[in-house]
Amino acid sequence: MEVFCMHPRTIKGIQSAPEVLESTKAIPFGLPRQLAVSAPLNQKRLLQRFQNKYICITGASSGIGEALVQELTGLPCTLVLMARNTKRLEEMRTKLSSDRTVIHVVPIDLEQPDVIDAAVEAMSVSIPHLDWLFHVGGISQRSLAADTDVQVVKRIMQIDFLGAVQLTTRCRELMGRSASPGIVVISSMTGLFGFPKRSAYAAAKHALQGYFESMQLESSSPYVCIVSPGSIRTNMSFQALEADGSQHGKADPRLEKGMAATEAARRILNGVARGKRTIYVGRSELLMIYFHRYLPFLFRWIARRTPAK
Ligand SMILES: NC(=O)c1ccc[n+]([C@@H]2O[C@H](COP(=O)([O-])OP(=O)(O)OC[C@H]3O[C@@H](n4cnc5c(N)ncnc54)[C@H](OP(=O)(O)O)[C@@H]3O)[C@@H](O)[C@H]2O)c1
Repeated sequence: MEVFCMHPRTIKGIQSAPEVLESTKAIPFGLPRQLAVSAPLNQKRLLQRFQNKYICITGASSGIGEALVQELTGLPCTLVLMARNTKRLEEMRTKLSSDRTVIHVVPIDLEQPDVIDAAVEAMSVSIPHLDWLFHVGGISQRSLAADTDVQVVKRIMQIDFLGAVQLTTRCRELMGRSASPGIVVISSMTGLFGFPKRSAYAAAKHALQGYFESMQLESSSPYVCIVSPGSIRTNMSFQALEADGSQHGKADPRLEKGMAATEAARRILNGVARGKRTIYVGRSELLMIYFHRYLPFLFRWIARRTPAK
């Protein structure tokens, strides 16, 4: 687990919440420089974990999922890319397929249970077994709890939580045929604490966290790794739902200042390759995890004053 602690001077220096969240100077032990530099992939470990494996990635059409696909391309393995935007996935297949990396495209809509079943059916025609299942696909929220329609809450719970659970259970047979199956779940920092304008998203990510953490503790289960990203530079806020279910359609300045998706993907793959069960990915915003745990008054002070975009 990457450990971020706060330097005493940082506490004194707090002027405003955005400053705390956005300044990489808040990270102690000289880490800012290190964080600015792209983490190289540990090729040897990566090969040990993923060579000749069958790997399914949801949310592969954009952001973190797309970056994971790009980082895995070139390894001798078979990738199954899943998302709704199959046009984008086909473009990626054309560009990234090689003698070493075989790529299959399977459409999935995590909102529709019958489409999830059909996706597993289609995948089992293309591959003999499944070694790795990366749950990346998801959708966020940009609305106050008091304004948000319950249908929007249900939609987010279905896509971010129930969809992932259904896909996992339906893949049981395919994964059961693997000698060493593994599941990687992209949760969020919001899976560890609530945040303004993220009530349904936080609920879905808490549910994911609870479900897969329980699974981690069951001796019969595959290896499970739960990833909690902070702010990663992707288009997530464009697709995020407003109170009435419409798309937010705007950039989020906090995400725009976040870690690049490629860097996040490398950290995730390096962590998984090392057998980590919990991975935190981000910059100084990760301090909020420790504030929430050890300094709850400070956490609430910052969270309430951070402009919810
Ligand atoms: N970016 C961040 O700061 C951040 C922070 C914490 C956690 N995360 C998590 O990271 C994951 C990836 O997000 P991202 O930042 O990479 O955002 P993104 O660029 O918007 O990617 C989201 C992915 O999810 C897929 N998706 C959305 N709705 C779907 C549905 N109904 N069925 C199937 N797939 C669906 C999208 O594909 P289609 O639209 O083609 O279906 C897309 O590939 C999400 O689970 C998100 O909660 C992101």
